[in-house]
Amino acid sequence: PPYRVGVLIGSLSTASINRRLAHALEKLAPPEFEFYEVDYSKLPLYNRDFDADYPQVALDFKEQVREADAIMFVTPEYNRSIPGALKNAIDWGSRPWGTSVWVDKPTAVIGASGGQIGTAVGQQSLRSTLSFLNARQMTSPEAYIHFTPGLVDDRGDVTVDSTREFLTMFMEKFLEFTARVLTVIPKH
Ligand code: FNR
Repeated sequence: PPYRVGVLIGSLSTASINRRLAHALEKLAPPEFEFYEVDYSKLPLYNRDFDADYPQVALDFKEQVREADAIMFVTPEYNRSIPGALKNAIDWGSRPWGTSVWVDKPTAVIGASGGQIGTAVGQQSLRSTLSFLNARQMTSPEAYIHFTPGLVDDRGDVTVDSTREFLTMFMEKFLEFTARVLTVIPKH
């Protein structure tokens, strides 16, 4: 497939509903997309002392983001923001100054929560960070998924027709967006 999408799942939980959602999205996506997970779970807590000698785990993380044609964030909301572990990973990717992997990267943001507003506030927090980092963001459609038990079954299939159609459309739009961005701004 022409486009490789790095997936950052905002939850490290083994039972994550956002991981379930990510797998469902991968199954619904157009064939032009291929996915791989960007693992950030082994990163230490960032501080700028590391800038002089970035640890290998952080160099590997940055390379996984750099090589992606696009990045998809699938994240829960923690206390009206994003989980600290995900923010830590984004910070690692942004440094040392001048070597950020986020600049011009096509991104999509989506998330699931048991709550009614389905990560909307957390996503705004993430978008604020992505704006500052000068990533390209698909700003519309937005996707706030109110996750009910059984919404995604064990095969990774979405059991509610309207949600499946919406998520399919979301991934088609993300493909259009990615193709458009990369036409104007080749991957660098
Ligand atoms: C939450 N949860 C939550 N939900 C929400 O809609 N808004 C919020 O601000 C928060 N805050 C929050 C903080 C912390 C520390 C935890 C552990 C949980 C609930 C959250 O949506 C729920 O646990 C999801 O299942 C988390 O997603 P994963 O880990 O299942 O993908």
